[in-house]
Amino acid sequence: VRRTVDILVWLGVAAMAIGLAPLPSSTPETGRRQAFSGLPASWPAPALMAGARFTAFGPLPAPPYPDDNPPSPVKAALGERLFNDPGLSASGQIACASCHNPELAFGDGLKTAFGHDRQRGRRNAPSLRAAAWRPLLFWDGRAASLETQAMAPIVDRREMAADPGDVIRRLNADPTYREAFKAAFGAKRVTQDDMARALAAYQRTLKPQASKWDRVLTRGGAVLDDQELLGLELFQGKAGCVNCHNGPLLSDGQFHNLGLSFYGRKLQDLGRYEVTGAPVDVGAFQTPSLRGVSRNGPYMHNGLFPTLEGVVNFYDAGGARPRPTAAQQADPLFPTTSPFLRPLGLTSEEKAALVAFLRTL
Ligand code: HEC
Ligand code: HEC
Repeated sequence: VRRTVDILVWLGVAAMAIGLAPLPSSTPETGRRQAFSGLPASWPAPALMAGARFTAFGPLPAPPYPDDNPPSPVKAALGERLFNDPGLSASGQIACASCHNPELAFGDGLKTAFGHDRQRGRRNAPSLRAAAWRPLLFWDGRAASLETQAMAPIVDRREMAADPGDVIRRLNADPTYREAFKAAFGAKRVTQDDMARALAAYQRTLKPQASKWDRVLTRGGAVLDDQELLGLELFQGKAGCVNCHNGPLLSDGQFHNLGLSFYGRKLQDLGRYEVTGAPVDVGAFQTPSLRGVSRNGPYMHNGLFPTLEGVVNFYDAGGARPRPTAAQQADPLFPTTSPFLRPLGLTSEEKAALVAFLRTL
Protein backbone atom coordinates (compact mmCIF):
# COMPACT_ATOMS: atom_id res chain seq x y z
CA VAL A 1 0.00 0.00 0.00
CA ARG A 2 2.77 2.40 0.97
CA ARG A 3 4.55 1.78 -2.36
CA THR A 4 1.35 2.51 -4.26
CA VAL A 5 0.89 5.71 -2.29
CA ASP A 6 4.50 6.73 -2.99
CA ILE A 7 3.99 6.11 -6.69
CA LEU A 8 0.74 8.12 -6.67
CA VAL A 9 2.46 10.98 -4.86
CA TRP A 10 5.32 10.98 -7.38
CA LEU A 11 2.87 10.86 -10.28
CA GLY A 12 1.07 13.82 -8.71
CA VAL A 13 4.31 15.76 -8.33
CA ALA A 14 5.29 14.87 -11.89
CA ALA A 15 1.87 15.89 -13.18
CA MET A 16 2.07 19.22 -11.39
CA ALA A 17 5.56 19.74 -12.72
CA ILE A 18 4.31 19.41 -16.27
CA GLY A 19 1.25 21.57 -15.56
CA LEU A 20 -1.49 18.93 -15.37
CA ALA A 21 -4.18 18.78 -12.67
CA PRO A 22 -2.73 17.13 -9.53
CA LEU A 23 -3.79 13.56 -8.79
CA PRO A 24 -5.28 12.97 -5.33
CA SER A 25 -2.43 12.30 -2.96
CA SER A 26 -4.23 9.43 -1.21
CA THR A 27 -6.83 6.83 -2.11
CA PRO A 28 -10.18 6.88 -0.22
CA GLU A 29 -9.01 3.76 1.64
CA THR A 30 -5.93 5.43 3.08
CA GLY A 31 -7.93 8.54 4.02
CA ARG A 32 -10.45 6.39 5.87
CA ARG A 33 -7.71 4.40 7.54
CA GLN A 34 -6.08 7.58 8.79
CA ALA A 35 -9.38 9.02 10.03
CA PHE A 36 -10.30 5.91 12.03
CA SER A 37 -6.85 4.60 13.01
CA GLY A 38 -7.00 5.93 16.59
CA LEU A 39 -9.45 5.48 19.46
CA PRO A 40 -13.14 6.40 18.95
CA ALA A 41 -12.70 9.89 20.48
CA SER A 42 -10.42 10.81 17.55
CA TRP A 43 -12.78 9.54 14.82
CA PRO A 44 -14.83 11.81 12.54
CA ALA A 45 -17.99 12.88 14.37
CA PRO A 46 -20.90 10.48 13.82
CA ALA A 47 -23.64 11.83 11.54
CA LEU A 48 -26.54 12.21 14.00
CA MET A 49 -30.10 13.21 13.19
CA ALA A 50 -32.11 15.64 15.33
CA GLY A 51 -33.44 13.79 18.37
CA ALA A 52 -30.81 11.02 18.44
CA ARG A 53 -29.48 10.11 21.91
CA PHE A 54 -25.79 9.54 21.48
CA THR A 55 -23.31 8.11 23.97
CA ALA A 56 -19.70 7.60 22.90
CA PHE A 57 -18.49 4.13 21.90
CA GLY A 58 -16.37 2.60 24.64
CA PRO A 59 -15.59 -0.47 26.74
CA LEU A 60 -18.32 -1.79 29.03
CA PRO A 61 -17.93 -0.56 32.61
CA ALA A 62 -18.36 -2.96 35.56
CA PRO A 63 -22.05 -3.95 35.62
CA PRO A 64 -24.23 -1.94 38.01
CA TYR A 65 -25.89 -3.90 40.82
CA PRO A 66 -28.55 -2.95 43.37
CA ASP A 67 -27.69 -2.25 47.01
CA ASP A 68 -29.79 -5.15 48.28
CA ASN A 69 -28.01 -7.67 46.05
CA PRO A 70 -24.25 -7.10 46.16
CA PRO A 71 -22.20 -9.52 44.06
CA SER A 72 -20.70 -12.67 45.60
CA PRO A 73 -19.22 -15.78 43.99
CA VAL A 74 -21.28 -18.08 46.26
CA LYS A 75 -24.50 -16.37 45.19
CA ALA A 76 -23.53 -16.44 41.52
CA ALA A 77 -22.72 -20.16 41.69
CA LEU A 78 -26.12 -20.83 43.26
CA GLY A 79 -27.71 -18.70 40.54
CA GLU A 80 -25.97 -20.74 37.87
CA ARG A 81 -27.31 -23.96 39.39
CA LEU A 82 -30.85 -22.53 39.44
CA PHE A 83 -30.48 -21.22 35.88
CA ASN A 84 -29.72 -24.74 34.65
CA ASP A 85 -32.32 -26.50 36.82
CA PRO A 86 -35.48 -27.72 35.01
CA GLY A 87 -37.01 -28.18 38.49
CA LEU A 88 -38.01 -24.51 38.27
CA SER A 89 -40.67 -25.45 35.66
CA ALA A 90 -44.05 -27.16 36.03
CA SER A 91 -43.02 -30.07 33.79
CA GLY A 92 -39.60 -30.46 35.42
CA GLN A 93 -38.18 -30.27 31.89
CA ILE A 94 -37.55 -26.63 31.08
CA ALA A 95 -34.72 -24.60 32.59
CA CYS A 96 -33.77 -20.99 31.91
CA ALA A 97 -30.88 -22.51 29.94
CA SER A 98 -33.34 -24.29 27.62
CA CYS A 99 -34.03 -20.94 25.94
CA HIS A 100 -30.84 -19.15 27.02
CA ASN A 101 -28.31 -21.79 26.03
CA PRO A 102 -24.73 -20.94 27.04
CA GLU A 103 -23.53 -22.52 23.78
CA LEU A 104 -25.78 -20.22 21.73
CA ALA A 105 -24.71 -16.92 23.33
CA PHE A 106 -27.43 -17.51 25.95
CA GLY A 107 -30.14 -17.41 23.29
CA ASP A 108 -31.75 -20.42 21.60
CA GLY A 109 -30.98 -19.95 17.91
CA LEU A 110 -34.71 -20.08 17.11
CA LYS A 111 -37.04 -17.55 15.51
CA THR A 112 -39.24 -17.57 18.62
CA ALA A 113 -38.88 -19.78 21.67
CA PHE A 114 -40.66 -23.03 22.54
CA GLY A 115 -41.79 -23.44 26.16
CA HIS A 116 -44.19 -25.52 28.27
CA ASP A 117 -45.85 -28.29 26.21
CA ARG A 118 -43.77 -27.05 23.31
CA GLN A 119 -45.95 -24.00 22.96
CA ARG A 120 -44.43 -21.42 20.67
CA GLY A 121 -43.78 -18.01 22.23
CA ARG A 122 -44.30 -14.85 20.23
CA ARG A 123 -40.88 -13.32 20.74
CA ASN A 124 -37.25 -14.17 20.08
CA ALA A 125 -35.19 -15.19 23.14
CA PRO A 126 -32.46 -12.55 23.42
CA SER A 127 -28.86 -13.28 24.30
CA LEU A 128 -28.28 -12.64 28.01
CA ARG A 129 -24.62 -11.73 27.59
CA ALA A 130 -25.36 -8.01 27.85
CA ALA A 131 -28.41 -8.23 30.13
CA ALA A 132 -26.51 -6.87 33.15
CA TRP A 133 -26.12 -3.48 31.45
CA ARG A 134 -29.61 -3.13 29.94
CA PRO A 135 -31.51 -0.22 31.54
CA LEU A 136 -34.80 -2.10 31.08
CA LEU A 137 -35.35 -5.76 30.29
CA PHE A 138 -37.47 -7.54 27.68
CA TRP A 139 -38.04 -6.28 24.13
CA ASP A 140 -40.79 -4.02 25.49
CA GLY A 141 -38.82 -2.97 28.60
CA ARG A 142 -41.44 -4.23 31.04
CA ALA A 143 -38.94 -5.32 33.75
CA ALA A 144 -36.74 -2.78 35.49
CA SER A 145 -34.16 -5.17 36.97
CA LEU A 146 -32.91 -8.73 36.70
CA GLU A 147 -34.38 -9.36 40.16
CA THR A 148 -37.89 -8.37 39.10
CA GLN A 149 -37.49 -10.11 35.72
CA ALA A 150 -36.61 -13.53 37.17
CA MET A 151 -40.11 -14.70 38.21
CA ALA A 152 -41.71 -13.79 34.87
CA PRO A 153 -40.54 -16.81 32.81
CA ILE A 154 -41.09 -19.18 35.75
CA VAL A 155 -44.80 -18.36 35.96
CA ASP A 156 -45.41 -17.59 32.25
CA ARG A 157 -47.95 -20.19 30.99
CA ARG A 158 -46.11 -20.50 27.69
CA GLU A 159 -42.65 -20.69 29.22
CA MET A 160 -42.04 -22.60 32.47
CA ALA A 161 -45.69 -22.53 33.62
CA ALA A 162 -44.81 -23.17 37.28
CA ASP A 163 -46.54 -22.25 40.50
CA PRO A 164 -44.01 -20.19 42.51
CA GLY A 165 -45.15 -21.85 45.76
CA ASP A 166 -44.38 -25.30 44.32
CA VAL A 167 -40.95 -24.21 43.15
CA ILE A 168 -40.00 -22.77 46.54
CA ARG A 169 -41.34 -25.89 48.34
CA ARG A 170 -39.25 -28.10 46.04
CA LEU A 171 -36.11 -26.08 46.74
CA ASN A 172 -36.74 -26.14 50.51
CA ALA A 173 -37.16 -29.91 50.36
CA ASP A 174 -33.66 -30.31 48.92
CA PRO A 175 -31.01 -30.10 51.70
CA THR A 176 -28.26 -29.21 49.20
CA TYR A 177 -30.27 -26.20 48.03
CA ARG A 178 -31.08 -25.16 51.61
CA GLU A 179 -27.40 -25.23 52.41
CA ALA A 180 -26.43 -23.27 49.29
CA PHE A 181 -29.07 -20.59 50.01
CA LYS A 182 -27.86 -20.38 53.62
CA ALA A 183 -24.28 -19.89 52.44
CA ALA A 184 -25.38 -17.21 49.97
CA PHE A 185 -27.97 -15.30 52.02
CA GLY A 186 -27.59 -16.48 55.62
CA ALA A 187 -31.29 -17.42 55.89
CA LYS A 188 -32.63 -20.81 56.93
CA ARG A 189 -35.46 -21.04 54.41
CA VAL A 190 -35.36 -20.58 50.64
CA THR A 191 -37.48 -17.60 49.58
CA GLN A 192 -38.69 -16.40 46.21
CA ASP A 193 -36.81 -13.10 46.59
CA ASP A 194 -33.52 -14.86 47.30
CA MET A 195 -34.05 -17.17 44.32
CA ALA A 196 -34.53 -14.11 42.11
CA ARG A 197 -31.44 -12.48 43.66
CA ALA A 198 -29.29 -15.54 42.98
CA LEU A 199 -30.48 -15.77 39.34
CA ALA A 200 -29.76 -12.07 38.88
CA ALA A 201 -26.32 -12.36 40.52
CA TYR A 202 -25.41 -15.16 38.10
CA GLN A 203 -26.59 -13.22 35.06
CA ARG A 204 -24.48 -10.23 36.15
CA THR A 205 -21.38 -12.42 35.76
CA LEU A 206 -22.13 -12.92 32.05
CA LYS A 207 -20.51 -10.60 29.56
CA PRO A 208 -20.15 -10.30 25.81
CA GLN A 209 -17.40 -12.51 24.42
CA ALA A 210 -14.14 -10.69 23.69
CA SER A 211 -14.19 -9.50 20.09
CA LYS A 212 -12.26 -7.48 17.55
CA TRP A 213 -14.36 -4.48 18.64
CA ASP A 214 -12.76 -4.69 22.11
CA ARG A 215 -9.39 -4.33 20.41
CA VAL A 216 -10.70 -1.35 18.41
CA LEU A 217 -11.70 0.26 21.72
CA THR A 218 -8.28 -0.24 23.29
CA ARG A 219 -5.96 0.01 20.28
CA GLY A 220 -7.89 1.99 17.69
CA GLY A 221 -9.62 1.37 14.36
CA ALA A 222 -6.23 0.46 12.84
CA VAL A 223 -6.89 -3.19 13.81
CA LEU A 224 -9.81 -3.36 11.30
CA ASP A 225 -9.28 -4.50 7.70
CA ASP A 226 -10.35 -2.29 4.76
CA GLN A 227 -13.80 -3.82 4.43
CA GLU A 228 -14.55 -3.56 8.18
CA LEU A 229 -13.35 0.06 8.16
CA LEU A 230 -15.74 0.90 5.34
CA GLY A 231 -18.47 -0.80 7.40
CA LEU A 232 -17.61 1.32 10.46
CA GLU A 233 -17.68 4.51 8.39
CA LEU A 234 -21.11 3.58 7.01
CA PHE A 235 -22.39 2.52 10.44
CA GLN A 236 -21.70 5.93 11.94
CA GLY A 237 -22.30 7.83 8.69
CA LYS A 238 -24.41 7.20 5.62
CA ALA A 239 -26.24 4.12 6.96
CA GLY A 240 -27.41 5.98 10.09
CA CYS A 241 -27.12 2.98 12.44
CA VAL A 242 -25.37 5.13 15.06
CA ASN A 243 -28.55 7.14 15.67
CA CYS A 244 -29.83 4.23 17.76
CA HIS A 245 -26.90 1.83 18.14
CA ASN A 246 -24.23 3.70 20.16
CA GLY A 247 -22.50 3.72 23.54
CA PRO A 248 -20.68 0.76 25.11
CA LEU A 249 -23.63 -1.59 24.42
CA LEU A 250 -24.28 -0.26 20.90
CA SER A 251 -27.80 0.52 22.07
CA ASP A 252 -29.34 3.84 23.09
CA GLY A 253 -31.68 1.99 25.49
CA GLN A 254 -34.63 3.73 23.75
CA PHE A 255 -37.70 2.32 22.00
CA HIS A 256 -38.14 2.68 18.25
CA ASN A 257 -40.57 1.41 15.67
CA LEU A 258 -38.90 -0.20 12.68
CA GLY A 259 -42.26 -1.09 11.15
CA LEU A 260 -42.33 -4.71 12.33
CA SER A 261 -45.44 -4.68 14.56
CA PHE A 262 -47.74 -6.44 12.04
CA TYR A 263 -50.41 -4.03 13.23
CA GLY A 264 -53.94 -5.39 12.76
CA ARG A 265 -52.60 -8.69 11.47
CA LYS A 266 -52.30 -12.18 12.89
CA LEU A 267 -48.75 -11.73 14.20
CA GLN A 268 -49.45 -8.30 15.71
CA ASP A 269 -47.11 -7.31 18.55
CA LEU A 270 -47.61 -3.79 19.87
CA GLY A 271 -44.31 -3.80 21.82
CA ARG A 272 -43.75 -0.91 24.22
CA TYR A 273 -47.40 0.19 23.86
CA GLU A 274 -48.43 -2.90 25.85
CA VAL A 275 -46.49 -1.45 28.80
CA THR A 276 -47.18 2.29 28.53
CA GLY A 277 -50.49 2.51 26.65
CA ALA A 278 -49.07 5.54 24.84
CA PRO A 279 -49.98 5.72 21.12
CA VAL A 280 -46.40 6.79 20.18
CA ASP A 281 -45.18 3.45 21.54
CA VAL A 282 -47.25 1.23 19.24
CA GLY A 283 -44.82 -1.19 17.58
CA ALA A 284 -41.77 0.24 19.36
CA PHE A 285 -39.14 -2.13 20.74
CA GLN A 286 -36.01 -1.46 22.77
CA THR A 287 -32.87 -1.13 20.66
CA PRO A 288 -30.94 -4.36 21.26
CA SER A 289 -27.23 -4.42 22.04
CA LEU A 290 -25.16 -5.35 18.99
CA ARG A 291 -22.32 -6.83 21.07
CA GLY A 292 -21.71 -10.37 19.81
CA VAL A 293 -24.56 -9.93 17.31
CA SER A 294 -23.14 -12.35 14.71
CA ARG A 295 -23.87 -15.23 17.13
CA ASN A 296 -27.32 -14.05 18.06
CA GLY A 297 -29.60 -14.80 15.10
CA PRO A 298 -32.42 -15.02 14.11
CA TYR A 299 -32.84 -11.25 14.45
CA MET A 300 -35.46 -8.77 15.73
CA HIS A 301 -38.13 -9.24 18.43
CA ASN A 302 -39.93 -11.72 16.22
CA GLY A 303 -36.85 -13.44 14.76
CA LEU A 304 -37.91 -12.29 11.29
CA PHE A 305 -34.44 -12.31 9.72
CA PRO A 306 -32.25 -15.42 9.83
CA THR A 307 -29.10 -13.56 8.74
CA LEU A 308 -27.31 -10.23 9.14
CA GLU A 309 -27.45 -9.84 5.35
CA GLY A 310 -31.25 -9.89 5.66
CA VAL A 311 -31.15 -7.25 8.41
CA VAL A 312 -28.92 -4.97 6.32
CA ASN A 313 -31.19 -5.34 3.24
CA PHE A 314 -34.13 -4.41 5.47
CA TYR A 315 -32.44 -1.20 6.66
CA ASP A 316 -31.27 -0.42 3.12
CA ALA A 317 -34.94 -0.39 2.07
CA GLY A 318 -35.66 2.13 4.88
CA GLY A 319 -37.21 -0.44 7.24
CA ALA A 320 -40.82 -1.48 6.84
CA ARG A 321 -43.53 1.09 6.11
CA PRO A 322 -46.88 -0.62 6.45
CA ARG A 323 -49.67 1.40 4.82
CA PRO A 324 -53.02 1.72 6.59
CA THR A 325 -55.97 0.00 4.92
CA ALA A 326 -58.99 2.15 4.13
CA ALA A 327 -60.54 1.13 7.45
CA GLN A 328 -57.32 2.03 9.31
CA GLN A 329 -56.98 5.54 7.81
CA ALA A 330 -58.52 7.24 10.84
CA ASP A 331 -57.05 4.85 13.43
CA PRO A 332 -55.05 6.97 15.94
CA LEU A 333 -53.03 3.90 16.94
CA PHE A 334 -51.78 3.10 13.45
CA PRO A 335 -47.99 2.91 13.99
CA THR A 336 -45.50 5.30 12.41
CA THR A 337 -42.06 4.03 11.43
CA SER A 338 -39.11 5.86 13.04
CA PRO A 339 -38.02 9.01 11.17
CA PHE A 340 -34.42 7.78 11.60
CA LEU A 341 -35.05 5.15 8.93
CA ARG A 342 -35.02 5.99 5.24
CA PRO A 343 -33.88 4.21 2.07
CA LEU A 344 -30.09 4.16 2.10
CA GLY A 345 -29.10 3.33 -1.48
CA LEU A 346 -26.22 1.09 -0.38
CA THR A 347 -24.18 -0.71 -3.04
CA SER A 348 -23.64 -4.46 -2.66
CA GLU A 349 -20.03 -3.70 -1.63
CA GLU A 350 -21.28 -1.36 1.10
CA LYS A 351 -23.83 -3.89 2.38
CA ALA A 352 -21.13 -6.55 2.60
CA ALA A 353 -18.89 -4.06 4.45
CA LEU A 354 -21.62 -3.31 7.01
CA VAL A 355 -22.07 -7.02 7.66
CA ALA A 356 -18.28 -7.46 8.00
CA PHE A 357 -18.28 -4.62 10.54
CA LEU A 358 -21.19 -6.12 12.51
CA ARG A 359 -19.19 -9.35 12.74
CA THR A 360 -16.35 -7.54 14.52
CA LEU A 361 -18.71 -6.64 17.37
C1 HEC B 1 -39.41 -20.81 26.94
C2 HEC B 1 -38.22 -20.06 26.70
C3 HEC B 1 -37.64 -19.24 27.84
C4 HEC B 1 -37.34 -19.66 29.13
C5 HEC B 1 -37.55 -21.03 29.73
C6 HEC B 1 -36.74 -18.52 29.78
N1 HEC B 1 -36.68 -17.45 28.93
FE1 HEC B 1 -35.84 -15.66 29.32
N2 HEC B 1 -36.58 -14.95 27.59
C7 HEC B 1 -37.28 -15.68 26.65
C8 HEC B 1 -37.88 -14.78 25.67
C9 HEC B 1 -38.69 -15.18 24.47
C10 HEC B 1 -37.52 -13.48 26.07
C11 HEC B 1 -37.96 -12.17 25.41
C12 HEC B 1 -39.38 -11.94 25.90
C13 HEC B 1 -39.87 -10.53 25.74
O1 HEC B 1 -39.07 -9.64 25.46
O2 HEC B 1 -41.07 -10.31 25.91
C14 HEC B 1 -36.70 -13.62 27.28
C15 HEC B 1 -36.10 -12.55 27.96
C16 HEC B 1 -35.29 -12.69 29.06
C17 HEC B 1 -34.53 -11.62 29.67
C18 HEC B 1 -34.47 -10.17 29.17
C19 HEC B 1 -33.19 -9.93 28.40
C20 HEC B 1 -33.13 -8.56 27.75
O3 HEC B 1 -32.04 -8.15 27.35
O4 HEC B 1 -34.16 -7.89 27.62
C21 HEC B 1 -33.88 -12.16 30.75
C22 HEC B 1 -32.95 -11.43 31.70
C23 HEC B 1 -34.25 -13.55 30.82
N3 HEC B 1 -35.09 -13.84 29.76
C24 HEC B 1 -33.84 -14.43 31.81
C25 HEC B 1 -34.43 -15.67 32.01
C26 HEC B 1 -34.29 -16.45 33.22
C27 HEC B 1 -33.50 -16.04 34.43
C28 HEC B 1 -35.00 -17.60 33.03
C29 HEC B 1 -35.27 -18.73 34.01
C30 HEC B 1 -35.85 -18.34 35.29
C31 HEC B 1 -35.56 -17.53 31.68
N4 HEC B 1 -35.20 -16.34 31.12
C32 HEC B 1 -36.30 -18.53 31.11
C33 HEC B 1 -37.41 -17.05 26.64
C34 HEC B 1 -37.24 -17.84 27.75
C1 HEC C 1 -34.41 3.97 14.66
C2 HEC C 1 -33.35 3.37 15.46
C3 HEC C 1 -32.48 2.36 14.75
C4 HEC C 1 -31.65 2.53 13.68
C5 HEC C 1 -31.38 3.80 12.87
C6 HEC C 1 -31.02 1.24 13.44
N1 HEC C 1 -31.47 0.32 14.35
FE1 HEC C 1 -30.97 -1.61 14.42
N2 HEC C 1 -32.44 -1.95 15.78
C7 HEC C 1 -33.24 -0.98 16.36
C8 HEC C 1 -34.34 -1.59 17.07
C9 HEC C 1 -35.43 -0.86 17.85
C10 HEC C 1 -34.21 -2.99 16.87
C11 HEC C 1 -35.20 -4.07 17.34
C12 HEC C 1 -36.47 -3.86 16.50
C13 HEC C 1 -37.51 -4.94 16.56
O1 HEC C 1 -37.22 -6.06 16.97
O2 HEC C 1 -38.66 -4.65 16.14
C14 HEC C 1 -32.99 -3.17 16.08
C15 HEC C 1 -32.45 -4.39 15.71
C16 HEC C 1 -31.25 -4.55 15.03
C17 HEC C 1 -30.58 -5.82 14.83
C18 HEC C 1 -31.06 -7.16 15.36
C19 HEC C 1 -30.36 -7.49 16.66
C20 HEC C 1 -30.93 -8.69 17.37
O3 HEC C 1 -30.29 -9.15 18.32
O4 HEC C 1 -32.01 -9.18 17.01
C21 HEC C 1 -29.45 -5.58 14.10
C22 HEC C 1 -28.41 -6.58 13.64
C23 HEC C 1 -29.41 -4.15 13.84
N3 HEC C 1 -30.52 -3.57 14.44
C24 HEC C 1 -28.42 -3.50 13.11
C25 HEC C 1 -28.58 -2.21 12.63
C26 HEC C 1 -27.80 -1.63 11.55
C27 HEC C 1 -26.68 -2.34 10.83
C28 HEC C 1 -28.29 -0.38 11.34
C29 HEC C 1 -27.87 0.61 10.28
C30 HEC C 1 -28.05 0.15 8.90
C31 HEC C 1 -29.36 -0.16 12.30
N4 HEC C 1 -29.50 -1.29 13.06
C32 HEC C 1 -30.10 1.00 12.42
C33 HEC C 1 -33.04 0.38 16.23
C34 HEC C 1 -32.36 0.96 15.16
